[in-house]
Amino acid sequence: MSSTRILGISGSLRSQSFNTALLREAKRLVEDDGEVTLDVVTLHGIPLYDGDVESEQGEPEAVSVLKRKIQDYDAIILSTPEYNNGIPGVFKNAIDWLSRPSEAGKSIFSGRHIAVMGASPGGFGTVMAQSGWLPVLKTLGVQHWSGGRVLASKAHQLFSEQGVISDDRMRDQLKGFVQSFAEFVRSA
Ligand SMILES: Cc1cc2nc3c(=O)[nH]c(=O)nc-3n(C[C@H](O)[C@H](O)[C@H](O)COP(=O)(O)O)c2cc1C
Repeated sequence: MSSTRILGISGSLRSQSFNTALLREAKRLVEDDGEVTLDVVTLHGIPLYDGDVESEQGEPEAVSVLKRKIQDYDAIILSTPEYNNGIPGVFKNAIDWLSRPSEAGKSIFSGRHIAVMGASPGGFGTVMAQSGWLPVLKTLGVQHWSGGRVLASKAHQLFSEQGVISDDRMRDQLKGFVQSFAEFVRSA
């Protein structure tokens, strides 16, 4: 059986991002048995959405590259930070670019399997940002998987310097989340 290919998109540009670390740790945890491939990308190079740029120059190269990448995978995991109880502008901006053109059936998100998780140093682990994604995902017409949750709170205490999660419960939760999502993708 070929592995289920998942693209993990981190919504943070920070080199020490907890959300990027969460995806990298998920990759380490799930790739052992060969059933899941999880590759991690960030949003570096994606400019602010500008309708004039789009109509005069077309979509920026960084957007085209990420679009092609998304099409190469079976599914997506968004690892979202939370800013002011909502979706960070950097992440929403990238998804807005990627959602273009917006005519029915043309968006790369249409029917695509997507799960959302997130990490924050606070006590609520991005619960508000993850809720904030729901109307966006609905509008994009994705197949959102809601069969599990990763709300990685106290993220500054979660990772070792090597980016490993030592807390057994959190580690099992993260691994189970990705594996269950992959099962859903395979069975769809
Ligand atoms: C503008 C701003 C607003 C923030 N608002 C929240 C918030 O509402 N809830 C929260 O849990 N963390 C909040 N934080 C803290 C982020 O969770 C923290 O910076 C986190 O490390 C961002 O994710 P990253 O590590 O992947 O970059 C905020 C940070 C910034 C810069």
